[in-house]
Amino acid sequence: MHYQTPAPFPQGFLWGASTSAYQVEGGWNEEGKGPSVIDRASFPPELSDFTVTSDHYHHFAGDIALFAEMGLKTYRFSIAWSRLFPTGEGELNFQGVAFYRRLIDEIRRHGIEPLVTLYHFDLPWALQQQGGWSNPRTVDAFERFARTAFELYGGQVKYWLTINEQNMMILKGDVIGTLPPGTANPQKTLYQQNHHMMLAQARAMIACHEMLPEAKIGPAPNISCVYPASSRPEDVIAANNFSSIRNWLYLDLACFGRYNAVAWSFMREKGYLPQITEEEMALLQRGRPDFIAFNYYASTTVADGQDRGAVGQERREVEDQQLPGIDKSVYIGADNPNLEHNEFGWYIDPVGFRVTCREIYERYRLPLIITENGLGAFDRLAQDNKIHDDYRIRYLSAHIRQLQLAITDGVELFGYCPWSAIDLVSTHQGISKRYGFIYVNRDEHDLKDLARYPKKSFYWYQRVINTNGERL
Ligand code: BG6
Repeated sequence: MHYQTPAPFPQGFLWGASTSAYQVEGGWNEEGKGPSVIDRASFPPELSDFTVTSDHYHHFAGDIALFAEMGLKTYRFSIAWSRLFPTGEGELNFQGVAFYRRLIDEIRRHGIEPLVTLYHFDLPWALQQQGGWSNPRTVDAFERFARTAFELYGGQVKYWLTINEQNMMILKGDVIGTLPPGTANPQKTLYQQNHHMMLAQARAMIACHEMLPEAKIGPAPNISCVYPASSRPEDVIAANNFSSIRNWLYLDLACFGRYNAVAWSFMREKGYLPQITEEEMALLQRGRPDFIAFNYYASTTVADGQDRGAVGQERREVEDQQLPGIDKSVYIGADNPNLEHNEFGWYIDPVGFRVTCREIYERYRLPLIITENGLGAFDRLAQDNKIHDDYRIRYLSAHIRQLQLAITDGVELFGYCPWSAIDLVSTHQGISKRYGFIYVNRDEHDLKDLARYPKKSFYWYQRVINTNGERL
């Protein structure tokens, strides 16, 4: 659909930006914080670990002042579960409690709306040692952690997110999930973990509605529309399979309280069905989100699983982070010759952003907020201490234009939080893969002075916010 005049962004639209605790905070063992799975993981020696990252733990006041200068209406960050509960359960760590109180106060003091993710990949290590998400006890621990966060910060936080990218943790269980190496029957284990996370999420949503009637809570998966590699009906079925397994399994459970039919058949066929009870399904029915948050980086393209050697298959399956959990009997990765890609091989597909918004909204009819979208690049600090990241401006403005079209299409969208507010350490590609509006002066191993330099995109986004999206 082409419009003569696209609708404006709604008044009060939440222009924001995102981070996550383990990627930005540092202070990994300070003031009583317990270790998380990230602190016990090993990373390639040439890349930064997560002990210091951007040292936001010690720089948060200055960072929030910069976010305010940029004009952010909302700031999405996560609470490190093991800062509040060093072992994931048991004793509360009052120094951790105080840190997030200071952080939230500072955010509020600048008139910014906090948007809080409860859990962003950093499961407390002590819980992992007891089986992590395979153990139903972790569900109890999560509910207690969520209730504690609601009680402590609910007076100041209106918007809550449950679990970041649960679908990626399941589909890439060995990389960012909580699957211990050498687990027998890994896929079956992961789908059981998935069921437990869904229960944990439902219990958190129920608790939030009970404790904070004014607050709003939602899931935050990574959703991307899936294209068939060709108009062959077999490729269309493959795309449909992948979308059910990658996207709808998670959101159908969260929003409808039932398993997606195609994803269920896939699990049954493969022998991955989780153990579930009627009471659990009733609980999933009761725990409902108020909105859907989602992360979008690019679309993905697949071909029929029998069609080995589809164009670009090998390359796609290695490079494409949007294409996890390949089961070659169901779908295989494929090139999309219509799209450009970034320095890391990720496709760039702004129109796919609009498609994804439409698909989610049509299916669930809940308000949407984007909690991640952005471009990882090797930014360079120029001699004049400036960062000329015009490529990032191009990426973001093209995506915002498509959001505006999605709004014109009728999608109810109330916020946009690109990744990331400030440079931080990538999940598995170090600090040199930068996403932020603010440059942090450090290298993989040389911490330098950790000085902050607003990039060109910072001033560009400031203008976008100032004009409520009119001047891109
Ligand atoms: C999302 C995650 O998957 O993508 C973030 O929620 C992550 O934690 C972001 O940093 C970008 O991915 P990467 O691998 O480039 O850091």
